[in-house]
Parts: sequence; structure tokens; C-alpha cells
Amino acid sequence: MNLPPRHRLVMTEDGSTTLHSELFDESCHSTAGAREETRVHYLQGCHVEEWLTQNSIMHILEVGFGTGLGWQETHLFAQKITNAFLNFVSLELDEDLVKWALPEATRHQDGKRLWYQQDFPRAQLKVIIGDARITVPQWFEHLEKFHAIYQDAFSPRKNPTLWTTEWFALLGQLSHPGARLATYSASISIRKALHAAGWGVYPGEAFARKKASTRAQWKCPSDPDLLIELAKHPTPALKDLEKA
Ligand SMILES: C[S@@+](CC[C@H](N)C(=O)[O-])C[C@H]1O[C@@H](n2cnc3c(N)ncnc32)[C@H](O)[C@@H]1O
Repeated sequence: MNLPPRHRLVMTEDGSTTLHSELFDESCHSTAGAREETRVHYLQGCHVEEWLTQNSIMHILEVGFGTGLGWQETHLFAQKITNAFLNFVSLELDEDLVKWALPEATRHQDGKRLWYQQDFPRAQLKVIIGDARITVPQWFEHLEKFHAIYQDAFSPRKNPTLWTTEWFALLGQLSHPGARLATYSASISIRKALHAAGWGVYPGEAFARKKASTRAQWKCPSDPDLLIELAKHPTPALKDLEKA
């Protein structure tokens, strides 16, 4: 199938591919390895194995479906290790990406809500189409509370509205207490935004050329050393100026 419009395919160093978006002028993954980055930041960062082996169901929310790699890796992994049910919900602005990555998914529409769905023996995937800041409130009463969130929007510089205090507060409302959020970004402004929204924030693993990333847990304490470090920086938390 042809690539989605305004995207080009990029080979990464672990042999997996990613897409580069013309609109955001950014790739969906690190060129050091799309698959490896997904495993380190999201599967390990959100303790997916631990949860799936100890519970009968896991609800995961992904911010940015992109190429579908986050879903594919999580589904493959879940099938191998457990009988638990995986409920994976992803948010995506660009419908063309979803048509390309999920040719067998069914398109659904109910009023303003538009989504693609695919059912598997022990998993369900839903990709909600539209600007996540608009679709999440529309979906509120139709979504379960999540155990894990893959915060995988484009970078705060290119895609700032999905890294703000208001956005992270919205994600908190969708989360169980103790739910884990993982992201590749280690920027001061997004760590401050997470903390201001009520997430306990702590440093995450390094990957490739990035020395750190960020992990968070809903309604949990932050790492005290990290808070001291954040207080030293004048950079403020990112705010959504349209919503503030
Ligand atoms: C870094 S990529 C996601 C990569 C993906 N997790 C994967 O495994 O391929 C970021 C995605 O967020 C989407 N996006 C950007 N702004 C958005 C918004 N406001 N609402 C929903 N999706 C958005 C982009 O279209 C892009 O596909």
C-alpha cells in the first residue's frame, strides 16, 4: 500500500522503520531504533510485563498512533507472555496514517466520535481520530480508566499543545491512581507541567543519544531530587494558552 500522504519511510538502526511527517517536520521515532525505543520507553517504562502477569486486563492509552508500532509491539508482547486481555486505545489526528497501518480495521462513526476498531482473541484496539484535545472530552464517558499511558506526541517544540499542564491534567482524569505514564522527553517544561497537573514525576531510562527520559505516576509523590533540580530552572511548565 502507498505511504500515507506527506510522510516518507525512514529506516532506523535496529532494522525497523518509522515515518517522517512533513507537517511536523519530525520522525515518529528515534533513528537509533524505532522498535527498541518503543520497548524501552513504553513497554518497560509503563511496566507492561509486570501488570499483565499480575492482572487479567490492562487498559493502555497511547497519545499518537503514528505508524502503529506502539500497538504492534505491545500486542505481540502481550500475546507471548500472558492470557490477560489487552485494551489498547490510541489517539491520532491523521486518519490517513490509520488507514495505512490498519487496513483490516473497521471504521465507526457515532455523532462526532470517529474511530477505527479491530478485535483480536485477547485484545481490542481502538484508534480515535481527531485532535486529542477535542476528542478526549468527547470520549470521556465511553472510556475505561487507564493503567498506563504512552505519551508519544511529536516533540514539545513541534507539538506543544499535547505537553501542557492542562493536557496532563486531562490524562490524569482518565487514569487509575498509580497509573504509569512514560515518555521519551526529558524537557524541564514538560516535567514541570506533569508535576503541576498532579503526576508524580521521576527520571526515566536513557536511549541512544538522549541521556534521560521521563516517567510519572498519577497521584504519587515525585522524586525529591528531581523536584529540587526542577526548582533551580527558571523555565516554566508548558501551559495551553487557549485553555488557561
Ligand atoms: C511520534 S508520532 C507517534 C508514534 C507512534 N506512537 C508509533 O508507535 O508509531 C506522533 C503522532 O501524534 C499525532 N498527533 C499530533 N498532534 C496530534 C493531536 N493534536 N491529536 C492527536 N494526534 C496528534 C501525529 O499525527 C503523529 O502520528
